[in-house]
Amino acid sequence: MKKRIVAGNWKMHKTSREAEDLVKEVLEKLDTVDLKKHNNHVVFAPPFVYLQNLGKLLQGMTNISLAAQNCHSEPKGAFTGETAVQMLKDVGCEYVIVGHSERRSYFKESDAFLKQKTDAVLAAGLTPIFCCGEMLNDRKNGTQQSVIREQLEQSLFHLEKAEMQRVVIAYEPVWAIGTGMTASPEQAQEMHAFIRNTIEEVYDHNTAHHLTILYGGSCNAQNAASLFSNADVDGGLIGGASLVADSFVEIIKANSAQ
Ligand code: 13P
Repeated sequence: MKKRIVAGNWKMHKTSREAEDLVKEVLEKLDTVDLKKHNNHVVFAPPFVYLQNLGKLLQGMTNISLAAQNCHSEPKGAFTGETAVQMLKDVGCEYVIVGHSERRSYFKESDAFLKQKTDAVLAAGLTPIFCCGEMLNDRKNGTQQSVIREQLEQSLFHLEKAEMQRVVIAYEPVWAIGTGMTASPEQAQEMHAFIRNTIEEVYDHNTAHHLTILYGGSCNAQNAASLFSNADVDGGLIGGASLVADSFVEIIKANSAQ
């Protein structure tokens, strides 16, 4: 059964105390939700400094995991301020977000660097949540599909089939992130189907149909169900709405109802 995931990308928010309280509140409110029934997973991606503490809190839980928002591609060395994937694994991370649009734009991370990061995450046995997404101008020009294909090609298509089968893709149109301009369910489905078809063309049917493709960009408790009910939308990567327990839990429930 295809894995369905709701992941909360907290970005640069919360104090240590707030981080712990938020996770505890979400877990409490999820008590009645049977995540295992439909292979549903919940992922928390807090800022780096809270990973160790939250890793202890989540240790041994089924279908609830910890993610890092970023990593470095090298296993160790003189890279001041950076964190290696093995270190993230050490503190309990199972996932790493790679190539978020904020990393691509503010920190000038190239497709080639994201390719190296993806390799590092896979080599350590963790799951990359690989983000792709077009800018508003790309969509206005109608070039969104070629932009996405290029991002996938440059950073993922060197992978062997067995490696590709361990990747999660998050489609996050840049114009929808933090703007309230959510992609319509039709726009999301169209792009997710395009991504799946592209994977099928490059790899095979089995790989494409087991691939988890998340939607991200102003997804909230109100619109989650209509986005997640599409055949090729397998959950979401949630920013703002993951910072409040009630809305995050509603989104998780919308995903597990599919
Ligand atoms: P928002 O949900 O705040 O639009 O952020 C989406 C996102 O960037 C998740 O990675």
